[in-house]
Amino acid sequence: MKHLLKLLDLSKEEIIEILNLADQLKYENKNGIEHKLLAGKTLGMIFQKSSTRTRVSFETGMYQLGGQALFLSNRDLQIGRGEPVQDTARVLSRYLDGIMIRTFEQKEVEDLAEYGSIPIINGLTDFCHPCQVLADLMTIREHKGRLDDLKLTYIGDGNNMANSLIVGCLKVGMRVAIGCPDDYRPDPKVLEFAKEYGDKLLVTGDIMEAAKGADVVYTDVWTSMGEEAETEKRKIAFAGFQVNDELMSVTNEGCMVQHCLPAHREEEITAKVFEAHADEIFDEAENRLHAQKAVMVKLMSK
Ligand code: CP
Ligand code: NVA
Repeated sequence: MKHLLKLLDLSKEEIIEILNLADQLKYENKNGIEHKLLAGKTLGMIFQKSSTRTRVSFETGMYQLGGQALFLSNRDLQIGRGEPVQDTARVLSRYLDGIMIRTFEQKEVEDLAEYGSIPIINGLTDFCHPCQVLADLMTIREHKGRLDDLKLTYIGDGNNMANSLIVGCLKVGMRVAIGCPDDYRPDPKVLEFAKEYGDKLLVTGDIMEAAKGADVVYTDVWTSMGEEAETEKRKIAFAGFQVNDELMSVTNEGCMVQHCLPAHREEEITAKVFEAHADEIFDEAENRLHAQKAVMVKLMSK
């Protein structure tokens, strides 16, 4: 594994190795055991979109690993004034030991990897959010003790989160149901990938059908970053695509709720369900730190 561009590129074994290392780093972190595995290394973090969790967890993670992280905003970099990503990649490769990038197009992340010579980590694109799903899988395994054959139901937009959840969950042996409006289905490339998993993936407009027998219910905002102009249209399209008590009533006993955050209460999730599952949701947010430290160690410690 040279980069983390999308989960489609990883094998089941690579995903499980990251989760195992993440568990170990979390244990060490909680018990005051230092692990300066990236001493002297620098991660550049390019942000073309806002972030709370991704920025703070990567920056803190690098510090805990003995290295440092540089926050590089699109507003300040020459990339924001049109310097080609191919040139940026080759320049930054001469200074840094790794780059985390959050941007719009997946192609920009793939280009960085192609033209640069250091590990590239995708911190969210319109297509996918692999770091988030590694933290999600870590959290689910922590709470449930296993991943194999669990059913995850995702309610809402067939967006970057849905795309990455489908790929990540199917690869580790889970079943997935997506409850989404017809016009907001997951990316065709992801649905094509899922074909080899047969009926382990269900995509339906009927959210109660999707939620039946779920072990984990997941949701995300109706309007993602970059889609703000469609907010009102989306409120209409997604009305009813909500995680609430009625939906939870058809899930399995002990069903978890996960949300990548930020959450919009009374839109994709009720405040009541959110608060009832807040511990699971904030464990998930915490695990961004541990899972990403594992990714950075795997990619940057050589
Ligand atoms: N879940 C997530 O990626 O959060 P941020 O947008 O705050 O980084
Ligand atoms: N789908 C959301 C995820 C945020 C972490 C977005 O892209 O804005």
